[in-house]
Amino acid sequence: MKNIDTNLENYHYRKTNIIQILQDIQSEHNYLPEKILKYVSERLKMPLSTIYSIATFYAAFSLNPRGKHLCTVCMGTACHVRGAAAILNEFERKLDIKAGETTGDMNYSLETVNCLGCCAIGPIVVYDGKYMGEFKLKDVAAVLKEKE
Ligand code: FES
Repeated sequence: MKNIDTNLENYHYRKTNIIQILQDIQSEHNYLPEKILKYVSERLKMPLSTIYSIATFYAAFSLNPRGKHLCTVCMGTACHVRGAAAILNEFERKLDIKAGETTGDMNYSLETVNCLGCCAIGPIVVYDGKYMGEFKLKDVAAVLKEKE
């Protein structure tokens, strides 16, 4: 757990830095592995349940392995009325997975969210952290092709 110890040292083993610590673990592994969370819990003397409650509160964290590319479709009301369901279906069809799943080759994960706070430019798709507003059905193929 050398990398994790370095990470914890960088944050002076302070419980108040738990979000940054989790962010670093997430960026290194693309998710938060259970055995690392247990180790962090021991080293920080912080209950594992507290770490899990933080990890599950923020959408940026994942407790399951994610693919190399993360695609999030907003399914909030404003995006839904502007065609988000059809966009999600198209991603599911092209990737051959359902929302919440990762492709077998670990290249893509597909997720949904209930409002990203920018409803006026919906429907919104976030692809590898890039917000794309007024997303059209035809954009699905273009985005996936771009990443091939
Ligand atoms: S409903 Fe999609 S950004 Fe608000």
